[in-house]
Amino acid sequence: MPRSGVGLKEFERKFERERDSWRTLRKDSDDRKTYDEVFDKDNLMRIYKLFSDGVIDQVDFPISTGKEGNVFRALTRDGKYLALKIFRTSTATFKDMAKYVAGDPRFKGISRNRKKMIMTWSSKEFRNLQRFAEAGVRVPKAVACHQNMIVMEYIGTDSSPAPMMRSVQLKDPSGVAEKLLVYVRRAYSEGGLVHGDLSEFNVLMDGDEPVLIDVGQSVLLRHPMAEELLDRDIGNIARYFRKYGLNIDIERELKEIRKR
Ligand SMILES: Nc1ncnc2c1ncn2[C@@H]1O[C@H](COP(=O)(O)OP(=O)(O)OP(=O)(O)O)[C@@H](O)[C@H]1O
Ligand SMILES: [Mg+2]
Repeated sequence: MPRSGVGLKEFERKFERERDSWRTLRKDSDDRKTYDEVFDKDNLMRIYKLFSDGVIDQVDFPISTGKEGNVFRALTRDGKYLALKIFRTSTATFKDMAKYVAGDPRFKGISRNRKKMIMTWSSKEFRNLQRFAEAGVRVPKAVACHQNMIVMEYIGTDSSPAPMMRSVQLKDPSGVAEKLLVYVRRAYSEGGLVHGDLSEFNVLMDGDEPVLIDVGQSVLLRHPMAEELLDRDIGNIARYFRKYGLNIDIERELKEIRKR
């Protein structure tokens, strides 16, 4: 019996109403297609599971529609916000995913089946979120993971989700840059992790605080691509902060990180 006493049929009706109201907001037919795909029968059942487990009470509104999936704001029963990331099971970037999962001992023997790979990918992102947090890196707090869905802390305010770093004018660029470098260092030395896709697109600004997101591709140090990805992450940070007139010494930073 579902926690809130709402049966599946009733849940479906409630959900249909929410979904229809978003769809009318979206005129673009590609967007509609995305919505129909995201809320197919399988996903609806998975959301129902999160609902009956008491994790979320409502899917609030879409925050982002990306290549690999969609992020929604969700509400808990007591009105708190969460973020729900739903990976598309027909993703076009399946081959790339395999590359990141294959070298990870935590996911040995994962089949080449597309659907299973997506499920593995979302559990990889979930576990990476936990691992980053344990290492002292600010990421959204991991709340729950179910098949192709991740529930995590919502970063933002009542009125809007936190902006990407690229779309804000930083008040204290050198402070933020230093914090990001500290996070990369901590992830490496405390967590044994490399983000792997660090850029101004995958840092949200919670007020003045940077928050790392999108950690599905993050790898353990023993992954064959780890060092190459670390070079790229640091390179991206250095490049981005040049526009603020900061000159980050890439070689020195890398040496500093690898010392530990
Ligand atoms: N926890 C969160 N709180 C608020 N907003 C979030 C959260 N997680 C993700 N978002 C929003 O959703 C967007 C996409 O998230 P993310 O980067 O994790 O997914 P993605 O699969 O890489 O999508 P894309 O291909 O668009 O980058 C982010 O840019 C951000 O705006
Ligand atoms: Mg992203």
